[in-house]
Amino acid sequence: MQVFIVPTPEAVAEKAADKFIETAKEHAPFFVMGVATGSSPVALYQAIARRAKAGEVDLRHASAFALDEYVGLPEGHPESYHAVIDRTVTKVLDLDPQLVHVPNGFATDLKQAARDYEAAISAAGGIDCQIVGIGANGHIGFNEPFSSLASRTRDKTLMPGTRADNARFFDNDIEQVPSECLTQGLGTIMDAKQVLMVAQGENKAEAIKNMIEGPVCSRCPASILQYHPNVVVVIDEAAASKIENIELIRYTE
Ligand code: F6R
Repeated sequence: MQVFIVPTPEAVAEKAADKFIETAKEHAPFFVMGVATGSSPVALYQAIARRAKAGEVDLRHASAFALDEYVGLPEGHPESYHAVIDRTVTKVLDLDPQLVHVPNGFATDLKQAARDYEAAISAAGGIDCQIVGIGANGHIGFNEPFSSLASRTRDKTLMPGTRADNARFFDNDIEQVPSECLTQGLGTIMDAKQVLMVAQGENKAEAIKNMIEGPVCSRCPASILQYHPNVVVVIDEAAASKIENIELIRYTE
């Protein structure tokens, strides 16, 4: 695991963009990216977009797979991840919308939707670089604590803490936040050729410490990444503030 600790959230976006672009070029032109919603990667998408416009990377034939989608929102809801991905990724990176995939949380048969999503990722040749954030409880995707470490895309229940964290997108009203979702599993995420995590801020510090220094266990789902051969973590000083063995862990190029 390469752990880059940089001074500010802005520096997180720039450093992560460097690593993303390196990987995108290796897999050009048919690069397959995995994308996350939430606040953490928004500045990263903007940094990549600026650099794509400057000609550093060509994403015209790139495809994208989102990590997850809520279940229970009406289609077209502005906070559905279909809408969020369209706003923050597809439009920002000027991707071909036909090549952008989000799990179908609106499906009546969620088990079939989950199988279809796994099949679509396989048909694309797998994900070359999966961007992830981390929940304050250590979740990645919506794989909440005690998820199976080998799980595949499936429907899951969100924990009250995660719904409370996401209430900021729903008028600060937890009741409006769906309690179900369809998410890539931990096994699905582990199949990505590279995982690129971004995290900023003190409220992620405990989860980051547990992911990097804790035992590999489902209490901190992100800790499964200790077994992945190509993980790049880019965090600011605040998110790194609880790491105990920081000088052993800090990665520099
Ligand atoms: C989003 C996702 C979640 C978020 C995590 C952090 O698609 O799967 O795991 O990455 O909840 O959210 P933010 O970035 O809003 O703190």
